[in-house]
Amino acid sequence: MIDKEQMDKLFAQARQIADKAYAPYSKFRVGAALLCEDGTVITGVNVENRSFGLTICAERNAVCAAVAKGYLRFTALAISTPDSVEPTGPCGACRQVLSEFMAAAAPVRFAGSGANQVNTTVGELYPFDSLHELKG
Ligand code: THU
Repeated sequence: MIDKEQMDKLFAQARQIADKAYAPYSKFRVGAALLCEDGTVITGVNVENRSFGLTICAERNAVCAAVAKGYLRFTALAISTPDSVEPTGPCGACRQVLSEFMAAAAPVRFAGSGANQVNTTVGELYPFDSLHELKG
């Protein structure tokens, strides 16, 4: 079980990587940090495109980077959106993708530049996940 100190550290990594976001259109940087089972942290940023619909969120980019490195299970996620004061949660598509690789009880923290932070779980973000039952 991840403690507050570890979650603070994971969030700091999400905040740091957010500066690498490619977001010239929205000007809304997002950084995501995934904690893998062995303690490795894999990060991702949002990557936009002039064809707006091709934009990929930070969370999914982190998942793709992790899978390419051989990591398939993540125990915690932190998301930083420094261009909003208040916390901004992951989009619907990312919630489903995250549920593929994370337990319902896995902690998720997201926060903007202000003091408010949301500490929740994958299961709260993506409830009634009956598709989990189809996985072996
Ligand atoms: N975005 C993310 O990267 N993750 C989220 O959870 C919400 C939205 C990105 C997509 C786009 O580049 C920008 O934020 C504004 O929507």
